[in-house]
Amino acid sequence: MRGTSSFLIVANRLPVDRVGDKEWRRSPGGLVTAIAPVMQRRDGAWLGWTGAAGEELKPFDHEGMHLIPVPLSGLEVELYYEGFSNATLWPLYHDVVAKPTYSRVLWDAYRAVNDRFARAAADAAAPGAVVWVQDYQLQLVPAMLRKLRPDLKIGFFLHIPFPPAELFNQLPWRNEILEGLLGADLVGFQRPGGASNFVRLSRRLLGLQNHRNEILMEGRTVRAEAFPISVDFGELDQLVREPRVLRRAKEIRAELGDPEHVLLGVDRLDYTKGIGQRLKAFGELLDDGAIKPGEAVFVQVATPTRERVDEYRRLRNDIELRVGRINGEHGVIGRQPISYLHQSYSKEELAALYCAADVMVVTPLRDGMNLVAKEYVACRHDLRGALVLSEFAGAADELRQAFLVNPYDIDGLKRAMLAAMRATPHELARRMRSLRRRVATHNVDKWASDFLTALESGEGVAEEQLTA
Ligand code: ADP
Ligand code: G6P
Repeated sequence: MRGTSSFLIVANRLPVDRVGDKEWRRSPGGLVTAIAPVMQRRDGAWLGWTGAAGEELKPFDHEGMHLIPVPLSGLEVELYYEGFSNATLWPLYHDVVAKPTYSRVLWDAYRAVNDRFARAAADAAAPGAVVWVQDYQLQLVPAMLRKLRPDLKIGFFLHIPFPPAELFNQLPWRNEILEGLLGADLVGFQRPGGASNFVRLSRRLLGLQNHRNEILMEGRTVRAEAFPISVDFGELDQLVREPRVLRRAKEIRAELGDPEHVLLGVDRLDYTKGIGQRLKAFGELLDDGAIKPGEAVFVQVATPTRERVDEYRRLRNDIELRVGRINGEHGVIGRQPISYLHQSYSKEELAALYCAADVMVVTPLRDGMNLVAKEYVACRHDLRGALVLSEFAGAADELRQAFLVNPYDIDGLKRAMLAAMRATPHELARRMRSLRRRVATHNVDKWASDFLTALESGEGVAEEQLTA
């Protein structure tokens, strides 16, 4: 029997996350931020995990989306999600900034869970449906699904970087991952470099022929292309015009003691985000006397994430130690230079924080895109505010008017933070106007429609165009 969904999103996570037995909250991370508004504006279904172990739930509707839960057992959460997805693939694909774990037990669980997602998608999809598989947790799904349902149009989008051969070749299951992805008709990446790494690896490891970004796989053509993801610019731009959000932004500054400069970081507490580097730079500016006590406050919001994975546990300890040291050395009673919040906030509170911040500090060591940088830009219609942005974030390709930094270069980071604090209103407006133009015209709807149009209009390659 075939399902009824003619458009299906398949992602590790549903857009909502289970808290306790009855409540739901928005799932963390950029994938959900981007796909939720796209789904709310289209008919379709979203297949994914609820974030709780061992829970079997019936399909349900939530905020205008039809959600189909896929269950994971406690052991699968440990081996497939925390293990292969987040202790093997995540660090490997992010430049090995942490050491990846290679284990056959984790790989077996990854394969088994991918198979479950593929079967669930095969059951839910209507004949000839478009199925859009998301991210590194489900790279085997395209090929598994094609085997079960050759009638489907299958797209895949990788939200994180796709590494070059020098790193990817470490993976003992590298060929299987490539073959999994090649089950799709279109494989999307954040940056052109990711797409060309993929084409090159398919040629070298699997001996496949290609014509530019089109690969010939078992008589089919698979296209690899970059589609830089984005945010719902219109929604954020509206939200920050609400008087209650502006009031809240003022209140936040007052609660911080109305310092001259508010600097802000908003991230999942992830070792790829360069949180330690930015706090080190800020601490040194205080040590050097370049920032006077009370002149600037750094607000660091760090959402809890993947807390049972060792590297994340270590990172939390490191960051909290660093925050404690800096506050201990430079704070006075009732006022501390770093306001550190290990919590999740509503969209509205985040928007108020973005409005309250003079300098947004986004310093990942490697990041597929980084939507926080784009959210900040979307919230600053007042043309005030400076964005300090790592050149290792995908967003740096587009946001050229940010204060671009190499986060490994602490002196450079200090200079960029000071330059952002001291820039004239005229310079800030000039930069922000250009940043906003980019994000307004390249919003998340454009990202989704560019991808889906390319998926539906795919054509084959002529035999004589192929190169081995
Ligand atoms: P990643 O996908 O790696 O987490 P992104 O910057 O692309 O990084 O996306 C993060 C998303 O999570 C953004 O939409 C951001 O607003 C949201 N987010 C980050 N921190 C918090 C927080 N403390 N509370 C609520 N949402 C958060
Ligand atoms: C990044 C990944 C997403 C993931 C999100 C949150 O955005 O690309 O696939 O969902 O982080 O991480 P989590 O492990 O909580 O799903």
